[in-house]
Amino acid sequence: TSSVGFVGYRGMVGSVLMQRMLDEGDFAGIDPVFFSTSNPGGPAPSFAEGSGPLQDAHDLDALAKLPIIVTAQGGDYTKAVHADLRSRGWDGLWIDAASTLRMNDDSIIVLDPVNRDVIDRGLGSGVKDFVGGNCTVSCMLMGLGGLFRNGLVEWATSMTYQAASGGGARHMRELLTQFGTINAAVADELADPASAILDIDRQVLETQRGGLDTAQFGVPLGGSLIPWIDADLGNGQSKEEWKAGAETNKILATNESNHIGMDGLCVRIGAMRSHSQALTIKLTEDLPVSEIERIIDQDNEWATVVPNVKDATMDQLTPVAASGSLNIPVGRVRKLEMGGDFISAFTVGDQLLWGAAEPLRRMLAIALG
Ligand code: HSE
Repeated sequence: TSSVGFVGYRGMVGSVLMQRMLDEGDFAGIDPVFFSTSNPGGPAPSFAEGSGPLQDAHDLDALAKLPIIVTAQGGDYTKAVHADLRSRGWDGLWIDAASTLRMNDDSIIVLDPVNRDVIDRGLGSGVKDFVGGNCTVSCMLMGLGGLFRNGLVEWATSMTYQAASGGGARHMRELLTQFGTINAAVADELADPASAILDIDRQVLETQRGGLDTAQFGVPLGGSLIPWIDADLGNGQSKEEWKAGAETNKILATNESNHIGMDGLCVRIGAMRSHSQALTIKLTEDLPVSEIERIIDQDNEWATVVPNVKDATMDQLTPVAASGSLNIPVGRVRKLEMGGDFISAFTVGDQLLWGAAEPLRRMLAIALG
């Protein structure tokens, strides 16, 4: 059994990771050592009794004893610890959910159903840093990997509908609090079927403009949307939008000759934990829709084609349908008016599962062989 250090196991992504590892029996083959930034010396987590007291997540000596460290503690922790650990000669495997190291030349973005070959080559050539991808990119590639991996995508746009969980646990709470405040502001009028809807609407807007807690998102999200996610790169593009192209190409290990143009607008909406995205794809070939759907569906066991009809779409292709599941529904596949090699698609994925925890869990399993 190999020792594996876990940092940030109590946060939102960390908790989902622990639950998935418990569900899959992943702890059976390892000796887990749990680290804490806030409570070193505290008791081991209840799901891993006997694993010893919590170690200090900033204790480089303790970290350096481990051959593998898995962290979901966040980017600030990675910045604070990773370079120091490496510079004192630690050559273990670092498996990380944060974006800090993602685009480094000597790191690999892990999404093994899509890039197992890249991961295996990396392990073989001594790569030590394995980083989970941006949630939107990972969910998109899990759904549409069949088209990307078969060289069928010349370029694509991804217009996103991203859930509150992408911001973090406090953002999810804030969204729900906003919904509650809005509802409370008009509860009496709502209960009265004779009240005027335009009066209700006016009161809702007043509440949204002046009566909501917006500490996390900065502006109202409940009953609205926010067409900007992550930093402003100063060129009109958000960092989240830049990641779509940069990470897609890194995950697929494209080069100058087969680089895939990938860009779009990223938008926050009032969903809880599943990110959705509408794609326009310029194919390299004019394939029939049935063939396109077959390629998508057969690429991996999680991508699931939803027939492009109203009932199935409303039932299966929503954040409510996708949340809590590893399935990645892909629907709305049809030829666009622009020509036979232009298609639309819509896909939804739980951003805490394939978007965060699952690729890390699977990378750990691959590393342990
Ligand atoms: N940047 C993502 C979001 C988080 O805000 O939705 C997951 O990478």
